[in-house]
Amino acid sequence: MKADQTALPLESNLTWQNSILNKSKRSQLKAQKPYIIWFTGLSGSGKSTLANALEAELYKLSHHTYLLDGDNVRHGLNSDLGFSSQDREENIRRIGEVAKLMVDAGLIVITAFISPFQKDREIVRKMVSPNEFIEVFVNTPLEICEQRDVKGLYKKARNGEIKNFTGIDSPYETPNSPEVEINTSGQSIEHCIKQI
Ligand code: ADX
Repeated sequence: MKADQTALPLESNLTWQNSILNKSKRSQLKAQKPYIIWFTGLSGSGKSTLANALEAELYKLSHHTYLLDGDNVRHGLNSDLGFSSQDREENIRRIGEVAKLMVDAGLIVITAFISPFQKDREIVRKMVSPNEFIEVFVNTPLEICEQRDVKGLYKKARNGEIKNFTGIDSPYETPNSPEVEINTSGQSIEHCIKQI
């Protein structure tokens, strides 16, 4: 078989398969309303910490959740992607599709990605129903993220060892109207979680 014959068929040759179960039935069984809680913010802003604490809190309340975290997803599903604008766009598109599937499964999905571009976040918002996308802007100023520098990446970026680093030589577009905005500096994790 020639290489081009192994390529995926065109979309016009695909037929959507309906399933017996649907989102509503799956979520009824879990006694919850599924949605995405989408954390966005600079590296080191506290997204992962807050996302983890929130998931633990929801677990205590017997909710069915799943946490998708930037650094982890880039080890597997998105290990072929780097940090160019196109790769970040593809990163967020794939995460959006995965999160959408999880919402269809009836889960509360928590995501922690820098997701620096407004357009990409809006694309994910439109993938699910209205009210199923809750954007949480972790608005920790760059100076504080850089002071924390938990992973030592800001130092490397300033030294030119890492290119296209968000906030240094790659842009971060502030969300226009996030459902929640948090400034983690001087706030306890518990306080931030309550706010969400
Ligand atoms: S995103 O921009 O595509 O949304 P994502 O959240 O998946 O980024 O990954 C960000 C994480 O990758 C950061 O927290 C950091 O640990 C690491 N990283 C490595 N290189 C870069 C870079 N050039 N810019 C930002 N983060 C980077």
